[in-house]
Amino acid sequence: MSDVPVIADPAAMSAWSETARARGERIALVPTMGALHAGHLSLLAEGRRRAQKLVLSIFVNPIQFGPNEDLAKYPRDLAGDLAQAVSVGCDLAFVPEAASMYSPDFQTAIEVREVSQGLCGARRPGHFAGVATVVCKLFNIVRPHVAFFGEKDFQQLAVIRRMVADLNLPLEIVGLSTVREPDGLALSSRNAYLAASDRKRAGALYAGLSAAKALREKGERRASVLLNAATAEMASRVDRIDYLEVRASEDLKPLATIDRPAVMLVAAFVGGTRLIDNLRLDG
Ligand code: PAJ
Repeated sequence: MSDVPVIADPAAMSAWSETARARGERIALVPTMGALHAGHLSLLAEGRRRAQKLVLSIFVNPIQFGPNEDLAKYPRDLAGDLAQAVSVGCDLAFVPEAASMYSPDFQTAIEVREVSQGLCGARRPGHFAGVATVVCKLFNIVRPHVAFFGEKDFQQLAVIRRMVADLNLPLEIVGLSTVREPDGLALSSRNAYLAASDRKRAGALYAGLSAAKALREKGERRASVLLNAATAEMASRVDRIDYLEVRASEDLKPLATIDRPAVMLVAAFVGGTRLIDNLRLDG
């Protein structure tokens, strides 16, 4: 099998999409930062089912990383990514250079106000503006009919849905459930940072979320009780819980009592690695 064709130039990407659209073909986009794993592949597989043309974008977006974050050491494996992309039937990989996405006088940012606050938004200032801005650019360049995102990044998905609704962006957003390792650890490109001993402890995030969900299924509605159960499960195994919260699934508003669909979200440090995860508490 040959590799997936690659386009780096945004104008060439738009021209490719114009041609497909002129033929009446439906275009699916899966935006990623590369270092593909089975979570990304599940998005691609669903995209393959839902459109005639499947585009994968790979771009480690500098403007969504803070000054002390892992931009420089973020895992990169373009050859491996392209080989995996072909196995799920991708038609094209859009792999732009940072310089072609951000000219020296670039000065626009999309700020999705409320949904970006708290959780990762509070710990990573500017992160969701960086995400919203690049995703909007990718939508404008690729012009997909439908784009796929993981619930693994629950707040990110909420930010993107809000942006698409608020700005009348003409595409459908599909959110897909989290792909996990056998011990429950959510697949993530950043799991590559975990040393073997840390990897064993990393299952604690899902164990904690699952403990809360089990209590919820028995009828418990108090967020504080669910949070205590999750904390008890995680505390001895992770090095530090960065946040652990119960929020409404729909708009991410904080919930003290669960009276509508809810999600528990966590960020925790294991070794030097910050991991995030979440679990819907109902269904
Ligand atoms: P990245 O971390 O590469 O993730 C790309 C997509 O894969 C996101 O929609 C993410 O939620 C999804 N994903 C990651 N892990 C997953 C898992 N275990 N199961 C299912 N889906 C998973 O998220 C980004 O890149 C960037 O912020 C991006 C949206 C590309 C903007 O730069």
